[in-house]
Amino acid sequence: RTIRLAEYTPPSHLVEGVELQFTLAPRTTRVRSAIRFRPNPARPDAVAGTADLRLDGEALTLIRAAIDGTVLAAAPDATGLTIPAAALPAGPFLFEAEVEIAPETNTALEGLYMSKGMYCTQCEAEGFRKITFYPDRPDVMAPFKVRIESDLPVLLSNGDAVGQGPGWAEWHDPWPKPAYLFALVAGDLVAHSDRFTTRSGREVALNIWVRRGDEDRCAYAMDALKRSMKWDEDTYGREYDLDVFNIVAVDDFNMGAMENKGLNIFNSKYVLASPETATDDDFARIEAIIAHEYFHNWTGNRITCRDWFQLCLKEGLTVFRDQSFSGDMRSHAVKRIEDVLTLRARQFREDAGPLAHPVRPASYQEINNFYTATVYEKGAEVIGMLKRLVGDEAYRRALDLYFERHDGEAATIEDWLKVFEDATGRDLTQFKRWYTDAGTPHLRVTDDYRDGTYVLHLEQQTLPTPGQPEKPPRVIPVAVGLLNPNGDEVLPTRVLEMTEARQSFSFEGLSARPVPSILRGFSAPVIVERETSAEERAFLLAHDTDPFSRWEAGRGLAKEVLVRMVTEGADPAPGFLEGLGAILRDDSLDPAFRALTLRLPSEDDMAQTLHAAGHVPDPTRIHVRREALIEAIARHLAGALGATYSAMSVPGPYTPDAGAAGKRALRGAALAYLTRIDGGAAAKVQYGVADNMTEALQALSALLDIGQGAAELASFEARWRDDALVMDKWFTLQVLHAAPDDCAANARALTERSDFDWKNPNRFRSVIGAIAANAAGFHHPSGDSYRFLADWLIRLDPLNPQTAARLSAAFDSWARYDADRQGLIRDQLARIAATPGLSRDLSEMISRMRGEE
Ligand code: ARG
Ligand code: ZN
Repeated sequence: RTIRLAEYTPPSHLVEGVELQFTLAPRTTRVRSAIRFRPNPARPDAVAGTADLRLDGEALTLIRAAIDGTVLAAAPDATGLTIPAAALPAGPFLFEAEVEIAPETNTALEGLYMSKGMYCTQCEAEGFRKITFYPDRPDVMAPFKVRIESDLPVLLSNGDAVGQGPGWAEWHDPWPKPAYLFALVAGDLVAHSDRFTTRSGREVALNIWVRRGDEDRCAYAMDALKRSMKWDEDTYGREYDLDVFNIVAVDDFNMGAMENKGLNIFNSKYVLASPETATDDDFARIEAIIAHEYFHNWTGNRITCRDWFQLCLKEGLTVFRDQSFSGDMRSHAVKRIEDVLTLRARQFREDAGPLAHPVRPASYQEINNFYTATVYEKGAEVIGMLKRLVGDEAYRRALDLYFERHDGEAATIEDWLKVFEDATGRDLTQFKRWYTDAGTPHLRVTDDYRDGTYVLHLEQQTLPTPGQPEKPPRVIPVAVGLLNPNGDEVLPTRVLEMTEARQSFSFEGLSARPVPSILRGFSAPVIVERETSAEERAFLLAHDTDPFSRWEAGRGLAKEVLVRMVTEGADPAPGFLEGLGAILRDDSLDPAFRALTLRLPSEDDMAQTLHAAGHVPDPTRIHVRREALIEAIARHLAGALGATYSAMSVPGPYTPDAGAAGKRALRGAALAYLTRIDGGAAAKVQYGVADNMTEALQALSALLDIGQGAAELASFEARWRDDALVMDKWFTLQVLHAAPDDCAANARALTERSDFDWKNPNRFRSVIGAIAANAAGFHHPSGDSYRFLADWLIRLDPLNPQTAARLSAAFDSWARYDADRQGLIRDQLARIAATPGLSRDLSEMISRMRGEE
């Protein structure tokens, strides 16, 4: 069944308060609920007493239900319970129910489930209905009181602890919230604790709850939490609003983390870190996700979404906030480049294929399928554009108004835009297309210069996406700067506001034809198309004042070189190799920036690029030619690489700060190239002496890339066999760095090991997700990898539809490839589609990819 935004109706009844009592048992947990309802004044039929009360409920054994003490005869159907209007008292009433559920057999990890002996919940988006009967929709908000009965020592829920004794605990969350923010945890856990004093003087107890033995891996997450709390006060004026903030690390988790009010639940991978077990990237991700979930307290919890179509209201804004935070903590330039890399790899790809959808989708079958790069990352870009258009000061005023006007409400994108219109006087009607129209705009740029006047001609076009043939022009903020041929900047960054399909912008009084620097800071999520000479790109790489554009110029060069190597069999252009060398040796540049510039576009990025340029990409050939380029760079830069490798060694004990991480990143990039010419000597030494996971993995990856590393893999396994998070990395490496011919076989062998616990999402992804990320291995002409992925999706789907559906998106790029590969992928899609009893999650994904809706 398709749910449509246009069909939204307010709930018939509102909830004034909820009391829940849990008596926990693996197979027979009892949930007693007492819910105080009142007719919604916005629903005349409910006020008149003619509206039925519909409660969501799935996989619940109903023991008893009553209204105002009178037992109900009504029997639930497969998705809930309807109480006919005739059985409802006029005005407010109390609904009570007792149900039984079996958390131990809940393999979908949605609702109340068990992970290694501990009880935990995941209710977003629609998991609460698997706990008890309730109007499980975000526009029904209520305060919750929860009593938990269990012999387990630690019993947690949302809000503040109001009482506890042996075998029970009671929690009260005074802030009205939708059911998706409910959480419960019970287990034999230990806390890493700290405190935070808010700027108005509230003392907040902070706890990170983990399994015994993991306490010493929480310090970084705790530090990130305190910095997040401070940052939200300083930057957005937002304070925390309870006396306790709990975080729990869980090993079995479908997503990254969840912002339940006062009780965030995390995939343990995004909490636990020590120098020996986590890489620099892991530390950075932990910092970002801790911040993200904390920031949701205001953007998501205090102000939530009216319905799931508005998901980007909280996710886009919260991603935007966590990106700004990470930029402030580290480097804005580096963070921006990394974010654009992810956006292009995931969101541009999504937007160009059968899964394309607007930032605010208009329909869905399964909402879990819309926790996507488009809703999250493009949603954040849209906010970045808005901020750029109105300016920093007006942005802050608008946000203040948003918090003031909508606190305690379930809001919409219309509410959000209205706040900006009211705060700035701007009409955002056209801007709203960024929310409603799918697809990445292409921005064609040409230019003229005559008599001191330089003119930029811009033309925008967005290709049709599923269900949206017409794409009217959007507002595109195009940040540009102009450089003189001598390298000086003649025009500092200015934002051109493009609103028409075609538009020209003039710059007068120039003494020479300038070199344009276009889309500085990646000011809009668009694809720039402009004929640019290699000389001009090299000039910008050397002279641009905007770090993003500087990196982008290098990126453009690398792509051009690779395209010519793949399509014409050309040799790598010497100018490109020289340019890379200049960046490598330029000690005035941030090492992290240099590392990013040395990193070549990925094979999938090249397939996307070639396809967009009208070629049919051959993943095998892309792999071979890209490997050739890596070797050419290594030979050409050999001396400089060795010097950088030595210069970037970080003395002293490991610290996860951005400065040290940047040096390690550059050193690791140098090592990857050096390994191509030294037979693995430097990498073997580095592996042997590494006292941190970053350097160990750099060395191991470099060795695997040249077909070595067997001894190192074995010693890694011997050391880490009992550490699941570290072993996930070991599984991934052997698939991700496998040669194309070995990829499927390696993956298959790994899945046959006794420690391939495929019901654990992290472990499943470590192999099945990795095969999709090895482009040449996944698209092997034999079709082996396609079959392998399909087999595992079919196997996982009955147990965990969410994770199966997410990983199925690996097939979304099928239309790029040749007829043989297209046929092989389509066969697998058809085979999955024909599987009896397919989940709603996976069947929606497969039919969208097959172009059926
Ligand atoms: N709100 C969470 C976050 O962005 C994501 C939870 C998604 N879970 C799901 N099953 N769809 O932080
Ligand atoms: Zn989020």
